Amino acid sequence: MIEPAVVSPYVRSRRATLAEGQPISDLMSRALDNPGLISLAAGFVDQETLPVEVVRDVMAHLLGNEAAGQAMLQYGTTPGLPALREAILQQFTSGTSSRETIDHLVITAGSNQLLHLVAESLLDSEDIVLCAAPTYLVFLGTVANLGGRTWSVATDDLGMIPEALETTLQQLANSGDLPRVKAIYLVPYFDNPSGITMPSERVQRIVEIAKRWSHRTRIHVITDEAYRELRYAGDDVPSARDFDEDGETVIAAGTFSKSFSPGVRVGWGILPEHLIAPVCAQKGNIDFGSPNLNQHLMAQVLRRGLFEQHVDRLRASYHQKLDAMLEAADEFLAPLEGVTWRRPTGGLYVWATLPPHIDTGPEGELFDRSIVEGMLYVPGQYCFPAEGQPIAKNTMRLSFGVQSCERIREGIAALARAIQAVT
Ligand SMILES: Cc1ncc(COP(=O)(O)O)c(C=O)c1O
Repeated sequence: MIEPAVVSPYVRSRRATLAEGQPISDLMSRALDNPGLISLAAGFVDQETLPVEVVRDVMAHLLGNEAAGQAMLQYGTTPGLPALREAILQQFTSGTSSRETIDHLVITAGSNQLLHLVAESLLDSEDIVLCAAPTYLVFLGTVANLGGRTWSVATDDLGMIPEALETTLQQLANSGDLPRVKAIYLVPYFDNPSGITMPSERVQRIVEIAKRWSHRTRIHVITDEAYRELRYAGDDVPSARDFDEDGETVIAAGTFSKSFSPGVRVGWGILPEHLIAPVCAQKGNIDFGSPNLNQHLMAQVLRRGLFEQHVDRLRASYHQKLDAMLEAADEFLAPLEGVTWRRPTGGLYVWATLPPHIDTGPEGELFDRSIVEGMLYVPGQYCFPAEGQPIAKNTMRLSFGVQSCERIREGIAALARAIQAVT
């Protein structure tokens, strides 16, 4: 007699298991569950500056015409609304290259989806993505979830070090792993979490290194430009895409989440020719097109010049918050031995390093002590790739986007008390 198979109700896929333990959702819910806590953790944008009036006006206009409104409330196409793709190209690219056409641009549900689709399109199990140390923690989860490996390259105050990248590639070649290296991931503008903006000469060298080391398999450079518009001083610098003359190496990811609204969740990718079909095929399987109405909204916002106006307002507001955080750090953290932090000129994050013996992670004393003192931060260790450089457990990311200047100051004062208590 054949025994009936016993089916466990808890059977999960390998990917579901790999997805466990990602810290981002936990951190976000800790912040939302403790409204009294001053969260300098979650990378949310400032609630006060969200463009309610702009969206209300544009939506009223868009839905003013019955037939046009009906079309917008219908499904769109997989690569996205041509009018939005055109508007994005005009707004965000130098427009000097004839290879940048709307056919290379895919609209996604935020840039996270683009990163996911690119990872799905490039990586097989055990393939490697080289990253800075530290780097954007959600992307680390995306790669791990696909069974890929993240490997960090030594990083200094100007981002990933080109010489260290060469050394890492040589080491991987020596161990036979070079064919597994499929991409180098950069967040060159006001990095999450480090706040660093890479000088364009460095970005250019990294693109050149990626091309030179592309032997049997191409090593792509993914430039994640989520914070490019959030610049509070100085002039914009060229994108990695501008250094990719044949357009075969660089994948650019952009988003309106930080510069306009994460609730609208419209992002995009500008892709090398050979990746357009694979990325669209992946997207076809997932949602066969991002929310159509939101794409019409963003096309109008760009076309009417409302985006630039909004970004100007945002910059002024975030600049004040950044100053508030740096001033509070000068006042409360500077007197503490061995505590240092970077001074970014844009983005939403300040990266701090504590004395080596202080573990900022959830297992260490400081994390709970900070909650007792009334604040929350992101432990830096979450932002380090699994392989490569050592994980700096004495680091943290502090976000200044959400809280008012007063609460930023209080949050940093609370952090200083917590550090003192565990020193
Ligand atoms: C570096 C970086 N890339 C991408 C994203 C994703 O943003 P979205 O998916 O909302 O466009 C974020 C969000 O925090 C980010 O910090």
